[in-house]
Amino acid sequence: MNIYTFKNEADFNATGASLIASLLHTKPRAVLGLATGSTPVGIYGRLIEMYQQGLVSFAKASSYNLDEYVGLPEGHSESYRTFMNEKLFNHIDIQLENTHVPNGNAADLKEECVKYDAMLEQNGPVDLQILGIGHNGHIGFNEPDDSLDGGTHVAELQEKTRTANARFFPSLDDVPKHAITMGVGSILKAKQILLLVRGEDKAEIVKRALKGPITTQCPASLLQCHPNVVVLLDQGAGRLLG
Ligand code: F6R
Repeated sequence: MNIYTFKNEADFNATGASLIASLLHTKPRAVLGLATGSTPVGIYGRLIEMYQQGLVSFAKASSYNLDEYVGLPEGHSESYRTFMNEKLFNHIDIQLENTHVPNGNAADLKEECVKYDAMLEQNGPVDLQILGIGHNGHIGFNEPDDSLDGGTHVAELQEKTRTANARFFPSLDDVPKHAITMGVGSILKAKQILLLVRGEDKAEIVKRALKGPITTQCPASLLQCHPNVVVLLDQGAGRLLG
């Protein structure tokens, strides 16, 4: 695990973006595993600038997002499909049909999960998986539990997660209670993982995830088992690592 701590946001974003761009330079058909949430937004912004400057192309790349809320109407401002279109896909040359986000409105959610795993199996492995981390140690929407699902599944969101995400919705009641998420097994199949964490409020969970025991009670701790993880932190998130 290679851990880098950044003093300023611009360097954090530029480093994350250049890791992704370098992959696309050497492998234009790269399969990207993408995350939503606030942390990668600056990196997506930097990638858009690089694309506009002719420094990177996504024309042959494909992408698979980690997760999607269940039950938000298509086009809802907080759906992860909308997020990805607005924060990245609409501004770069990726072919929209090569971008994949689980369908949280599928009539049969279990079948949607099976289909998503089959696509990952057929078109993967993911070359570079971007991850954020929840305050409870979740990755994707794999919440702490006595056991974890390996493949894509429907997850019940914990109150801590719904409360953290309530900032994007009119009220806590509007935050969906379920999401489709790639499982920890699918995530760990990626060739390389890029974990992004910002903020003092994440310092404790970063320490638990990166230096604590490997346990399903902190799903991000399972990343310690992966042979190729790059972690980008700001000073707040890294302050307890010593
Ligand atoms: C997003 C996702 C989540 C977030 C995590 C951190 O697709 O799967 O696990 O990465 O909740 O979110 P932020 O970046 O908003 O702190």
